[in-house]
Amino acid sequence: MNTHSKYIAKIPDAAGLIDYTPEENSVWHDLFERQQQIIANRGSSEFLHGVKLLDMSATRIPQIPEMNAVLKRCTGWQVEPVAALISNELFFNLLANKKFPAATFIRRREELDYLQEPDIFHEFFGHCPMLTEQHYADFTQNYAIKTLEAAPEDRPYLARLYWFTVEFGLVQTLNGLRVYGGGILSSKEETIYSIESPIPARLPFGNGLDALRTPYRIDILQPVYYVLESYGDLFNIMNKDLFGLIHQAQDLGDFEPRFEASDTELYPC
Ligand SMILES: [Fe+2]
Repeated sequence: MNTHSKYIAKIPDAAGLIDYTPEENSVWHDLFERQQQIIANRGSSEFLHGVKLLDMSATRIPQIPEMNAVLKRCTGWQVEPVAALISNELFFNLLANKKFPAATFIRRREELDYLQEPDIFHEFFGHCPMLTEQHYADFTQNYAIKTLEAAPEDRPYLARLYWFTVEFGLVQTLNGLRVYGGGILSSKEETIYSIESPIPARLPFGNGLDALRTPYRIDILQPVYYVLESYGDLFNIMNKDLFGLIHQAQDLGDFEPRFEASDTELYPC
């Protein structure tokens, strides 16, 4: 997790509402419009269904109570407003209690295409649609519970699991390869690249062992994606011996990184 941010999250009022400026709503508008145009044949059907359920529009940044009303009805999840940066402990504790942490700031226009910190567009547009789907929502909660139970030396492997699923996961469907990872779906460039570019490797997720052995960097287009055969793969990894699988990954060792060395393999948000 980053140790500093140049952004400051906005504080909701007593009704849970946030007063975004016209410029902030305008940034949301532009992000939303262009992403809507590219997700139709690239986002998974569960994601696209979630976008419809949440009824977000380009007009303005959605308010948390609006998102919560839908999430509560679908899966019992809620969005929890948090500071721009929070501790790993708080992050996983919130997820374990079906609260999705969302830093309530939006990127500046000069960072429209990429910023390292997860902003409200990443959280609302990238992640919340999938949280309307029960199996996926359960996976996220179980993941957090297991992370809180994990020994410190096992946690980086759990971070890889989150990275290659919740953030950068692809799924095979009858209509072809589709995206369900929020890190991809909140990025115009990576949504197209992950599905259509000949550059990255797209490997089967299988039982998850290979993903656990794969280093990643948070600040580049991903050189490798893991593809679910179905969301049942996520159910399987949570309901089998996950820590046994992690120990197997530790014994076998990491795969050679497909990128230049960096210190940016960090806990995701
Ligand atoms: Fe994220």
